[in-house]
Amino acid sequence: MKKLFFLSALFNAAVAFAQPSQAYRDSINKLTQADYRNMLSQLKIDSTRRGPSGNPSAPDAANVDESKATTYKTIPDPLLLKNGKKVSDVKTWWDKRRPEIIEDFNKEVYGRVPVNTPNVKWEVVSTVDTVFGDQPAVTKNLLGHVDNTSYPQIKVDIQLSLTVPKERKKPVPVIMEFGFIFPAGFRPPPPPAGAPVTKSWQEQLLDQGWGFAIIVPTSYQADNGAGLTQGIIGLCNKGQHRKPDDWGALRAWAWGASRAVDYLETDKDVDAKQIGIEGLSRYGKATVVTMAFEPRLKIAFIGSSGNGGVKIMRRTFGEQVENLASSGEYHWFAGNFIKYAGPLTPNDLPVDAHELVALCAPRPVFISSGSPKVEGQWVDAKGMFLGGVYAAPVYELLGKKGYGTAEFPPLETSLVSGEIAFRQHSGGHTTGPNWPTFIEWAKRYLQ
Ligand code: GCU
Repeated sequence: MKKLFFLSALFNAAVAFAQPSQAYRDSINKLTQADYRNMLSQLKIDSTRRGPSGNPSAPDAANVDESKATTYKTIPDPLLLKNGKKVSDVKTWWDKRRPEIIEDFNKEVYGRVPVNTPNVKWEVVSTVDTVFGDQPAVTKNLLGHVDNTSYPQIKVDIQLSLTVPKERKKPVPVIMEFGFIFPAGFRPPPPPAGAPVTKSWQEQLLDQGWGFAIIVPTSYQADNGAGLTQGIIGLCNKGQHRKPDDWGALRAWAWGASRAVDYLETDKDVDAKQIGIEGLSRYGKATVVTMAFEPRLKIAFIGSSGNGGVKIMRRTFGEQVENLASSGEYHWFAGNFIKYAGPLTPNDLPVDAHELVALCAPRPVFISSGSPKVEGQWVDAKGMFLGGVYAAPVYELLGKKGYGTAEFPPLETSLVSGEIAFRQHSGGHTTGPNWPTFIEWAKRYLQ
């Protein structure tokens, strides 16, 4: 528990560190509303349904009663072709069904990556000796300069750091996190007095002889609607508003992670065949989107991704599509996704989250959640669990294994026998307490 307070204090420190002024927030909000209205008018939508509240004591609180969650009759079958035929062989999955699912996600959910995205030139800005707990390490700080000759008004740099053990005999596996890089000299708050001494995730990875990278998604695509005419999306659109099937921030964040993989493939300290990805919450959503669309990634640790991540979008529990489609979150998605909050409904979506997990197959994915009591129910742990259950037929077709059960397990039960793993730890909104279980399971795939 104390450790959790510490983790959330760390997160708050990161947020506080990044806290912009009220005037700045007002102007972002104004631009966001203008971009949102522009998209609604392109979609010819006057208004959308309002999502429930995330505050459990609000009168319009999101449903958390499991008996009322399954309001849908069916969910899309990942192995059913659009022509009505069932996929029964591996080739048909790769050549026909997988592209169909990708097209649906591209058009209706996450948006399309432009055909020609600009080149990125990586620069090592500094290399420093460092230490994580007992582990001496070396960190490289990097910037990925995005070629903006097509529209010099927008400048984009991808922020990345790479840390590897100081002593290493060969190139090492690397787990890349979507996160924050603290500026030099920044000191996170000390743990509360008497808090148990626990190892950071960084030290745990270094203990294995592995390295880690941190990519900062907001360095190349802002986390708001105002930013859609800026960053990598704005650069590709030359500062104009998006079209309804253009990419949203999640797909843009995933694009940046792919450019980071380009760099990691060239770094002699990194084993390019053993790169994984991890993130929490909105970055958990970015993690599964990246894994689905970037085949060079070997393994993923998807933290509390909730709706828009691996949670079944049709479930009436916790956060709803209506929330995601609101002006505060629509920027994560294609403009077209807003349609499913009016006039359409989530049941009209041609795909659901289990098919995003299926796009990761046959590669191993670990689905992580906190405890409903501490984390809250907004993320819908069972909905995320089901995202794995319904993806299993695709893993099985490809010779791999799902959880081996469709029954939602009690807290702290590790379902780690297959390539889709699941665990709810007893803490809050963090991947923290699941790192040891993730690493033990990942050792089957990374050496
Ligand atoms: C909000 C949002 C979630 C998101 C989360 C986060 O709660 O509704 O979808 O995952 O923020 O990223 O912290």
